[in-house]
Amino acid sequence: MIKRIWILTLFPEMFKPFLDCGIAGAAFRGERSEDFKFELHFVNIRDYSTTKYKSVDDSPYGGGPGMVMRADILKDALLKGVQEAGGYESLDQLEVVYTSPRGTVWTNKVARDFGVSILGSPDKDIVFIAGRYEGVDERFLSKYVTKFYSIGDYVLTGGELAIMTILDSAVRFVPGILGNKLSSEYDSFEDGMIEFPQYTKPREFEGMEVPSILLEGHHKKIQEWQHQEKLAMTKNWRPDLLKK
Ligand code: ADE
Repeated sequence: MIKRIWILTLFPEMFKPFLDCGIAGAAFRGERSEDFKFELHFVNIRDYSTTKYKSVDDSPYGGGPGMVMRADILKDALLKGVQEAGGYESLDQLEVVYTSPRGTVWTNKVARDFGVSILGSPDKDIVFIAGRYEGVDERFLSKYVTKFYSIGDYVLTGGELAIMTILDSAVRFVPGILGNKLSSEYDSFEDGMIEFPQYTKPREFEGMEVPSILLEGHHKKIQEWQHQEKLAMTKNWRPDLLKK
């Protein structure tokens, strides 16, 4: 099946290096699985501007700094650029996601839920809206957006990096997309802890040896060591996680 992801943005070119590189790029180019292919479509919001200078924003009612993205232009981008162009009978066939500091804070758990039940589900295609400037007219958000996510308590100048963060961290949980199934289970945060330290060649680096237990081949002992190291690493680097 094909899962279409639509991205409404003023800067589609920001996504090019993301799509060109690595395992997530391959996944979103539709190259990681025959049975489940992602198809990314970019809609440039500016193409739906109705003004002489192709603007998409205006000053806020009530005054204040910055500019606000217009609801009417975003609506056209969504209805014409996505619904009509994609042949959707109803907006109910789409999950419309807006990234903003107001949204559900993105964690590994939220990423897994999103990866399994939204990104990896055949039910609905997904639309991401990348805001810019001071934000988007509230009337558009309240009428058309179905999910809000924040990638953390800080303010980005636009939603594009948040969308890439969401896609990159959630695609790992889509069944059949990540090559090594076990690796997402072993990754940091899956059990509330960070990863144990890893070593590879050379065996000796600037006077430092690889821990000898890793060279002895006792699988059970290695697992026990890795568990202890996880605890120690978490205590040392992220004690806040143990409190949780
Ligand atoms: N847009 C601006 N800031 C953001 C944030 N912290 N998370 C998601 N989208 C944003």
